[in-house]
Amino acid sequence: MPTIIDGKQTAQEIKSEIAVRVAEIRAGGGKTPHLAAVLVGSDGASQTYVGAKVKACEEVGFKSTLVRLESDVTEEDLLNMVEDINNNPDIDGLIVQLPLPKHISVDKVTNKIRPEKDVDGFTPANVGRMTLNWPAYVAATPYGIVELLKRYEIETAGKHCVVIGRSHIVGSPMSILMARNGYPGNATVTLTHSKTQNLPEICRSADILIVAIGKPEFVTADMVKPGAVVIDVGIHRIQDASKKSGFRLIGDVKFDEVAEKAAAITPVPGGVGPMTIAALLYNTLQSAEKKVFG
Ligand code: GUN
Repeated sequence: MPTIIDGKQTAQEIKSEIAVRVAEIRAGGGKTPHLAAVLVGSDGASQTYVGAKVKACEEVGFKSTLVRLESDVTEEDLLNMVEDINNNPDIDGLIVQLPLPKHISVDKVTNKIRPEKDVDGFTPANVGRMTLNWPAYVAATPYGIVELLKRYEIETAGKHCVVIGRSHIVGSPMSILMARNGYPGNATVTLTHSKTQNLPEICRSADILIVAIGKPEFVTADMVKPGAVVIDVGIHRIQDASKKSGFRLIGDVKFDEVAEKAAAITPVPGGVGPMTIAALLYNTLQSAEKKVFG
């Protein structure tokens, strides 16, 4: 059996570490870290994610503010709300949950967020800083994966790391982090996407395979080298009458058959997902302690 990389437990450990630090800050008379989340509209998945973020803040002793705006809010009003939060000295971190309604420019909104409060790591300033290997807020999903690789002591130097998917939120930053001079890093990275040819063959040469394609059970055993480390970023609800909820969650990787070949693998649920929230909390703590921008 492979090592099952337990993101749920690791995220709990990180949250406990953060809670200890928050208690220390408070005991020293410092300000409670404070995360603000802006949610536009009533998209079901976004409500679930933001709800989980707010709940996680409570768990570690952070203050949180949830700003809910109607889906027909104007771009200008949203930009003004971001600016208000930028200027609120009590708030350390600000996230605007994506996706946004079509009439609002994600780029404009993202660029409005002060990089010092951009705990999602989405602003050009933070993406640039990460790319230059400067202190930066790294986006929650890639940061969560980096932390899993570290805590499971997965060797990365000189390994062939194949990333499937080039999104700004996951694949692209992941490829940069795995190639950088450090640990985890120093891998030889192949970033694959929808125009890639011979994808199964490329995957078969991966020592570390990071899958963020957004297609249920896309990666099958024949695409995986024996002994590979497989990180599954996907999460999909599929109907399952045998479950009380009527559905179950699956990833981008066909878990059962790939697990038989892999040396280590993240499950879905309980792998990368819980780590993203832990990473967001960690970034917010870093902001409260002025550790990234000084
Ligand atoms: N939508 C999907 N993932 C994310 C994320 O990490 N942050 C924000 N703000 N929105 C998202």
